[in-house]
Amino acid sequence: MNLNVGIIGATGYTGYELVQILHRHPQAQLAWATSESSAGKSLGDLYPTPDDIPLLRQEDAPLHLADVIFLCLPHVASMDAVAQVRAAGVRAIDLSADFRLPSAAVYERWYGHTHTRPELLDEAVYGLCEVNRSQIKQAHLIGNPGCYPTTVNLGLWPLARAGVLRHRIIADSKSGVSGAGRALKLASHFVEVNENFSPYSIGYSHRHIAEMELVLGPWVPGLQVTFSPHLLPVNRGILSTLYVEVDPALSEKDVRSLYAGAYAGEPFIHLLPPGQVATLRHTVGSNRCAIGLTPLPYPGQWIITVSEDNLIKGASGQAVQNMNLMFGLDETAGLV
Ligand SMILES: NC(=O)c1ccc[n+]([C@@H]2O[C@H](COP(=O)([O-])OP(=O)(O)OC[C@H]3O[C@@H](n4cnc5c(N)ncnc54)[C@H](OP(=O)(O)O)[C@@H]3O)[C@@H](O)[C@H]2O)c1
Repeated sequence: MNLNVGIIGATGYTGYELVQILHRHPQAQLAWATSESSAGKSLGDLYPTPDDIPLLRQEDAPLHLADVIFLCLPHVASMDAVAQVRAAGVRAIDLSADFRLPSAAVYERWYGHTHTRPELLDEAVYGLCEVNRSQIKQAHLIGNPGCYPTTVNLGLWPLARAGVLRHRIIADSKSGVSGAGRALKLASHFVEVNENFSPYSIGYSHRHIAEMELVLGPWVPGLQVTFSPHLLPVNRGILSTLYVEVDPALSEKDVRSLYAGAYAGEPFIHLLPPGQVATLRHTVGSNRCAIGLTPLPYPGQWIITVSEDNLIKGASGQAVQNMNLMFGLDETAGLV
């Protein structure tokens, strides 16, 4: 199989990352790419890339020439664009938050916007590959997970699904600046970020909590998430340090066995040996998620460190992993 791929919003960080991944994918090629502000130019005018890809306006994109379309737009902008792709009968992988959450009410509570395409939420599958693989294989619309929730959910999934994770979770997370996208914002100016380190959206306020509740909530009665994101002065990478309590009857060996069992054969989960912690260097530039498990000397208390590249496993790499699953390709194609 050789897939033709379209990208809507190719000039942003996730769009450009996708272009690069697709360039080395053995069974997929970029058919077209769009940009509103740079239509008529080519990607080489914007990035130091040898790929001279012309940029089309979204309304001129030949949707029907693609087998699958990635949408790399800000949330809200994606709603109508996804609806057009689906109306053209083409499968869609949306990197925004617009199709990640199960209902318009939950979306509106966290994002503060009316969901104008709620009829599509039923067909959308949350594209966390290690958790929802069988549904992803049948999906026509993927809500690709957010970057922070991918670390928190993959870091805790083995404990949650085994029913041994206690309800109180503290997630202390740090992200590189590319997590905020390429558009100019005061908070991501060099002088604001460099030699600084700042928490933001702390207290029960960051939108990504919704995806942690979506994945872990059904398995953890009374789940309480304390999520503190920080802006780290590096280009890319997320490190989440998770403070959790598990059933104190479990030994250290039991906990490690749960992770080994849940992630046996997973090509992109790197379980670290005892004594090691996850760092950005374990994952930046790859589609891997590294997980380190550290017990505390108090019954049931653990510190779990999780890292990923926010633009790859946290966005475009996971999106390609989803595409591979949807089309029956080798799940790792283009990603190793
Ligand atoms: N950055 C990350 O680490 C990350 C991780 C996971 C998920 N995401 C999500 O992925 C999506 C893209 O993120 P990004 O970091 O790539 O953002 P970005 O760098 O800001 O790029 C956004 C893209 O969308 C286009 N665009 C902006 N406003 C638009 C509008 N109103 N209508 C149509 N096109 C518009 C821009 O294109 P033109 O200006 O060229 O038209 C640009 O190509 C977002 O929803 C983000 O939340 C990002």
